[in-house]
Amino acid sequence: MKTMLVTGGAGFIGSNFIRYVLEKTGFPGRVVNLDKLTYAGNPENLEDIRRKYKSRYAFVKGDICDFRLLNGLFKKYSPETVVHFAAESHVDRSIFGPKDFIETNIHGTFALLETARSFWLSRIPDPRSSISYRFHHVSTDEVYGSLGKTGKFKETTPYDPRSPYSASKASSDHIARAYHHTYGLPVTISNCSNNYGPYHFPEKLIPLAILNALEGKPLPVYGDGLQVRDWLYVGDHCAAIWRILRKGRAGETYNVGGNCEKTNISVVKEICRALERLAPSAANPALKGRSYEDLITFVKDRAGHDRRYAIDFGKIKRGLGWSPSVTFARGLAETVRWYLGNAAWVGNVKTGAYRSWLKKNYD
Ligand code: NAD
Ligand code: TYD
Repeated sequence: MKTMLVTGGAGFIGSNFIRYVLEKTGFPGRVVNLDKLTYAGNPENLEDIRRKYKSRYAFVKGDICDFRLLNGLFKKYSPETVVHFAAESHVDRSIFGPKDFIETNIHGTFALLETARSFWLSRIPDPRSSISYRFHHVSTDEVYGSLGKTGKFKETTPYDPRSPYSASKASSDHIARAYHHTYGLPVTISNCSNNYGPYHFPEKLIPLAILNALEGKPLPVYGDGLQVRDWLYVGDHCAAIWRILRKGRAGETYNVGGNCEKTNISVVKEICRALERLAPSAANPALKGRSYEDLITFVKDRAGHDRRYAIDFGKIKRGLGWSPSVTFARGLAETVRWYLGNAAWVGNVKTGAYRSWLKKNYD
């Protein structure tokens, strides 16, 4: 059976991707999800998938920095494809504690690449073999730095990372690219813009604003709120990665964007409007007569806050026929509905109860 090793599959995008692969693509093989279960990892995201695909889905708790573990996994499962999501992913956390970002994002990516190289390239190839390997590295548009009022990031834009998070991702991109150029490892890379959708951990702007609003807590907007992000629905991102795996060429990088530039303050206001439609503040006792918009609170800006990101996704559109399909209005409404409809998940994450569930089941 063909095996795809997905790292970081208990996180936001990784869990959406595994669900997408098993439910939507017709992939006949097995998915092995390797995840360390940091604060951001929650196997509950895939509990239904685990039950439904007993023989085709395996979860392994472990660290991508652990060479011994990686060797054992490659020996046991012989994956032909690696899709690498595992990372420390939050810019604010990288400002207050960069160490884990350097460890996981740089050393961990190196360990995975090195293990794939040793299993895929250092053995004597069977000339009759039709196996085609692929290492897909998932990265961010933040490696390109910050834009002025105009222009978009292209694959050829020089790297200019400005936070510890983006610097660690830039470093991992360079190492992945070097493994292709030096050793011929079949690597592809995607650099995408800000994702949103179900299972998003509520430290990032959109889920934080939705859940704070429902509890009548302040909606913190950094600085003047006029920073711009290019929002990409997570389902569209999963489809883009799948397209790259199927049709992308080894050695290539693809930028993936949502064609959806918005200031942070306008995003927060749209969240408030969506909530007023789907869960009116007037009927929410936590709001005590206030509207959701009344909760918007401007707070101290993030250190080194990048002003604007925007993606030119012309290459993946022309070359692989992918473009985003979900409008922000639709994606946001679906996201808000998902958080409203998944009170148990939200409760477990907000109270930290998911951590004790993890301890009981996975330690
Ligand atoms: P996330 O923080 O929700 O999930 C990260 C997952 O990686 C968690 O399950 C965590 O437990 C796991 N992990 C962390 N360290 C690990 C380690 N050492 N070994 C094994 N597992 C480990 O992140 P996300 O938002 O799903 O992002 C996934 C990938 O996409 C990351 O590489 C990120 O840089 C990239 N990305 C994210 C966005 C976004 O908007 N969320 C945008 C662009 C790129
Ligand atoms: P975030 O979701 O943390 O993603 P990233 O830093 O990777 O872009 O933040 C998105 C934008 O929202 C970013 O410009 C920072 C801003 N922001 C706020 O204004 N308030 C918040 O509480 C958070 C978490 C982010």
